[in-house]
Amino acid sequence: MRLPIKLPKPRNLMPRGLFGRAVLIIMLPILLLQGASTYIFFDRHWTRMTERLAYAVAGEVAAVSDQIEGAPKDKDTIEILKALMATHLDMLFTYSPKIKNETLLTDAGDGPGLTDTLSRAIVDQVRRPFMVNVDMDHKKIDVFVQLRDGLLQVSMPQRRMYDSSGYIFVLWLNGLALTFFLISLFFMRNQIRPIRRLAVAAERFGKGINVQAFKPTGAREVRRATEAFFNMKERITRTVQQRTAMLGGISHDLRTPLTRMKLQLEMMGKNPDTVALREDIDDMEAMVEGYLAFMRGEGDESAQALDVVPILQRLALNTQRQGFPVIMNTPASLILEIRPNALERALTNFVENARKYATRTEITLWADDHNGWAGLTIDDDGPGIEPANYEDVFKPFFRLEGSRSKKTGGLGLGMAIAQDIILSHGGRVLLDRAPIGGLRVVIHLPL
Ligand SMILES: Nc1ncnc2c1ncn2[C@@H]1O[C@H](COP(=O)(O)OP(=O)(O)OP(=O)(O)O)[C@@H](O)[C@H]1O
Ligand SMILES: [Mg+2]
Repeated sequence: MRLPIKLPKPRNLMPRGLFGRAVLIIMLPILLLQGASTYIFFDRHWTRMTERLAYAVAGEVAAVSDQIEGAPKDKDTIEILKALMATHLDMLFTYSPKIKNETLLTDAGDGPGLTDTLSRAIVDQVRRPFMVNVDMDHKKIDVFVQLRDGLLQVSMPQRRMYDSSGYIFVLWLNGLALTFFLISLFFMRNQIRPIRRLAVAAERFGKGINVQAFKPTGAREVRRATEAFFNMKERITRTVQQRTAMLGGISHDLRTPLTRMKLQLEMMGKNPDTVALREDIDDMEAMVEGYLAFMRGEGDESAQALDVVPILQRLALNTQRQGFPVIMNTPASLILEIRPNALERALTNFVENARKYATRTEITLWADDHNGWAGLTIDDDGPGIEPANYEDVFKPFFRLEGSRSKKTGGLGLGMAIAQDIILSHGGRVLLDRAPIGGLRVVIHLPL
């Protein structure tokens, strides 16, 4: 049967960090072992030990009782008995003739405690009304026994019944376990440090921050992962550098002949052929510009902690100067780890699109400390993009059918470049429908 209410998911009690988990993994067996051995020790050894001692004590009390009841009650017999008991059995007794105590017991409880254990032994062996009084403060045990014609009080030190070596044993056991646990914590910390260092390095590299290689330390697997990470980082860095250098070379080398061709066309005068050629050359120039922009995005700029709000304000101001309304909605400041020129290029590309395809735009900046992300939303009121095309528009040179007009121009590189830049900051770009009608671009950047 299904429950009418939804039960809350049980909270995952497993610690999240590796250190916490490792501690749990070492500690749990130790605790269980400790618990089990303490239980077994007390249940088996301790209880039985106490029982034996109780039987010995009860036997001696029974012997005194029999002796007094059987002997002629003159002072001497009792004094001799007293001396014997004191020297050999560590017990003192007083005998008060003609006294009867009606409150004494004939039954014993069945608990595991000292009083009950001793009471049971007395019921078994002395077989007279009795009372046991354990005085923990003075480490003394008194046993009262009702004899036929008087009351017997036997006093003995607690050590007759109680063996402190058991407690000492348990204390040692737990103390040693705790000491070893603390020592292993120390070593565990040292094992986890290199993993944490690797995680930080990988995180920083993911955000596009340059990380210095460090000497791999720790366990073999961690060293291997660290080495592999730095090899991978080297390869990625080299690939990016090569691509950047190649693009720079191509763009630069193409520009010179293009300029020459343009000059030659100027001299040839205007006719339909030269006009078409001229248009092609313009397109090629725009493409070269695009490549150069792409290259700049991946340039040598290094990441730094900077306030993004002034960057946004500058961007908005520049766009407004060109007669395009931009509404800003930002906090006073927001510090992020960024490469400022690259980020500005990415944002410009998105705002440019809004300017080309819409009549106004709204930029909202927000930060969510809780999730560790900062967000930028760029909304416009243009025609927007069909969700089916959300992925394609990020591909280089992809332009939607409606945009293939000369009026909006463009190569279809803007979004690809912008996404590349955001990804290299460890961020992501999502598309959505804007509340004001057109496209919403959501940029997430790690805080
Ligand atoms: N705000 C927008 N509203 C509607 N369509 C858009 C918007 N932004 C982008 N698009 C569509 O996505 C396509 C790809 O955009 P992208 O910025 O990559 O290229 P482009 O703007 O055409 O050219 P470039 O940016 O290289 O000059 C555009 O051609 C257009 O069809
Ligand atoms: Mg564009």
